[in-house]
Amino acid sequence: GKGNFRHFMQKEIHEQPAVIGDTLHSYVNLQTRAVTLPEMPLDFAALPRLTISACGTAFYAGFVAKYWFEQIARLPVEVDIASEFRYREAPMPEGGAALFISQSGETIDTLAALRYARSQKQTILSIVNQPESVIGRESDLVLPTLAGPEIGVASTKAFTTQLTVLACLALAAARARGAIDAAAEACLSSAITEVPAAITQVLEHAEPLEAIAHDISAVRDVLFLGRGSLFPIALEGALKLKEISYIHAEGYAAGELKHGPIALIDEDVPVVIAAPSGPLFDKLASNIQETIARGGRAIIFSDRAGLERIGDGAAYTVEMPTIDPFVAPILYSLPMQLLAYYTAVAKGTDVDQPRNLAKSVTVE
Ligand code: F6R
Repeated sequence: GKGNFRHFMQKEIHEQPAVIGDTLHSYVNLQTRAVTLPEMPLDFAALPRLTISACGTAFYAGFVAKYWFEQIARLPVEVDIASEFRYREAPMPEGGAALFISQSGETIDTLAALRYARSQKQTILSIVNQPESVIGRESDLVLPTLAGPEIGVASTKAFTTQLTVLACLALAAARARGAIDAAAEACLSSAITEVPAAITQVLEHAEPLEAIAHDISAVRDVLFLGRGSLFPIALEGALKLKEISYIHAEGYAAGELKHGPIALIDEDVPVVIAAPSGPLFDKLASNIQETIARGGRAIIFSDRAGLERIGDGAAYTVEMPTIDPFVAPILYSLPMQLLAYYTAVAKGTDVDQPRNLAKSVTVE
């Protein structure tokens, strides 16, 4: 049941510290903080390329992982939505591997993409929440997310546990490929273990988001911006808002703003920006200034150091806990989920059963 919560989605948002903790228990040795994966059916050191494919929110998890595998493990990654990948007839390298991400493990396009990769002799890995599912059964190795049943149609805890497993996998790949030293690995794996407590902090200080969501519930369009590994989180934020509040939203890489979407900006189109401190912060700060200079209402999520550097002019700023940039995409998923949730509540839409959507898409 929903316990003390009004909706399953709300309950599932609040379960995230616990289910990410459970997931970490099976992928990280919490004494040594070293990532420990099951025996792999492949050698990351010799892998020419990893191809990732999935749908919807699971695709965005794979898109974040592309940044991680490339930066940390120096592993070439291709990522595509499964409905395109399955028909592209993409050549796949000999000795390559393919990774499929699915909460249900039953999504037909993802399954078809898996079977294509199998026909191309790739090693098949999957990250699924339901290991007994068809995608799980057809994989050489299943890395389960321990999110528990997800009832709300809009995916929340499945997404952040997918990211958790992917972060661990990227670290394991980095180690196998000799791409990071022991000190860097220790630093990144301890960053992963700090995520549940940081999420708890976000959940305990969520009231300002209700006021922002109340404002958003009155508009027709919203833009979401991010850079680097936060770009997929902007896409996910836009998807979440569309799905449950029926407000039109688009996610963009912030650097693309001046190549088109900036034409949309005025006081009626709020711009939500995921802006953690990190290597791309200064670039993002100038995109924020571009937005404000055109009369846009910027809603900025950043940590204390970031907010101090951005200065005035934003419609709203929300302070996030300070965290290693590596795991920022996991933490910044939370305000995206909460904004969508509170906006839908303010509009009175059906949060758990949005119109036209099914929890698992087993037809093409
Ligand atoms: C979004 C959402 C969908 C699913 C997509 C894939 O909130 O729930 O976009 O992520 O249909 O589903 P799975 O993960 O079951 O393959």
